[in-house]
Amino acid sequence: MKLIHADIVYSEDRTHLAVHPDSYIAVEEGIVKGVWTEIPEEYRNVPLTDYGNAVLIPAFSDLHVHAPQYLNRGLEMDLLLADWLDKCTFPLEAKYADPEFAKLVYDAFVDDMIANGTMHACVYGTIHTEATSYLIERMDRRGIKGFVGKVNMDRNAPDDLLEDPEGSVRRTEELLEKYSGNRNTRPILTPRFAPTCTRELINDLGRLGRKYSVGMQTHLVESIWEAEQARILFPECTCDTEIYERAGLMDNGPVIGGHFIFPSEEDIHIMQKYDSYAVQCPDATVSVIAGIMQTGALLDRGMKIGLGSDISAGHHIGVYTQAARAVQLSKLKQFYEPEGNRKITFPEAFWMATKQSGPLFGGTGSLEPGSVFDALVIDGLSDAARQLTPEQTVERFCYIGTKENIKVRYMNGETIE
Ligand code: GUN
Ligand code: FE
Repeated sequence: MKLIHADIVYSEDRTHLAVHPDSYIAVEEGIVKGVWTEIPEEYRNVPLTDYGNAVLIPAFSDLHVHAPQYLNRGLEMDLLLADWLDKCTFPLEAKYADPEFAKLVYDAFVDDMIANGTMHACVYGTIHTEATSYLIERMDRRGIKGFVGKVNMDRNAPDDLLEDPEGSVRRTEELLEKYSGNRNTRPILTPRFAPTCTRELINDLGRLGRKYSVGMQTHLVESIWEAEQARILFPECTCDTEIYERAGLMDNGPVIGGHFIFPSEEDIHIMQKYDSYAVQCPDATVSVIAGIMQTGALLDRGMKIGLGSDISAGHHIGVYTQAARAVQLSKLKQFYEPEGNRKITFPEAFWMATKQSGPLFGGTGSLEPGSVFDALVIDGLSDAARQLTPEQTVERFCYIGTKENIKVRYMNGETIE
């Protein structure tokens, strides 16, 4: 049992932040018991940690990130998707055939995620089983709640990244067998995207989905080019999302669809039917995809939307930065395409980065009673001439903060380095 004093901020709902200045939060066995302005009688003897007027917020959730691409962040950002994959991304991913190389990168990746306050994540590996096993084990050991996918691809990529469908599915199943019972980080099916997967591969993954119910992540209607390729390569389907629905991949565990920038009505219908998550990755879509999600309109239709760093199409490992970028992009969307689009507010963006995906990770993303206490203490954002309010501190952190502003990190109620 512990008691913490700070200014406390979390999402109350999609449009409101709950702000508790100068308050106390009690945590028992990693779960929040309550938030009060005075210490309740029953907790008077519980040890107190006082963070003064630093701000306590929930840890962040990154719903779309490529661990192997960590080495490429901030590089070759003048390319567009197809060229960027061919010239920059696939050559790097091929190197993960070497498990020693993978370990070096994945250790640094996981440490940097935690340092930047990301404690829940949906992560892509590569096609390589050994490297991906290491990534799952490493994340699980460090306590990151979430999912890791061994990527599946059997066409339209360099030879050293292609698998035959049978081998791809067999190796994926090995990982499902070995790690589906993990405490924190579990495997998830990860057909990369429609252009690099055959119908046979996707159908076979659908069979694994039915057997293991582990869910699926992929890239969905991420660019005009990708959506066109999907239509050409899967002419039997009217939209990208239907490719996966037909294989039974939409209703066996959570579905996390990266980008979702150019959805048809049918794409939206299918995603909502299965209560799936779309993921906005603002930096990535500015850099290599050149499209802006209709975030405000989709939120108004009740779509579940989380945020992703999409390293390395996005360049910033801290997904909190993407909350700021989502607000900025929503304004551009409204400006250039006013019909049916609206800007989003900062509380909406913060909610997408925290509470919205809480159920995916076992009740994270909030500090209300019953939440898993994965939390950050942020500080050092005020000016000498102006003390920020708690909600201003959170907003400024997302715009100009760095990991140095995260003074303390709690995971399951315990501090971690
Ligand atoms: N589409 C297929 N693969 C990728 C990838 O690695 N990153 C992004 N952003 N889009 C993709
Ligand atoms: Fe991606």
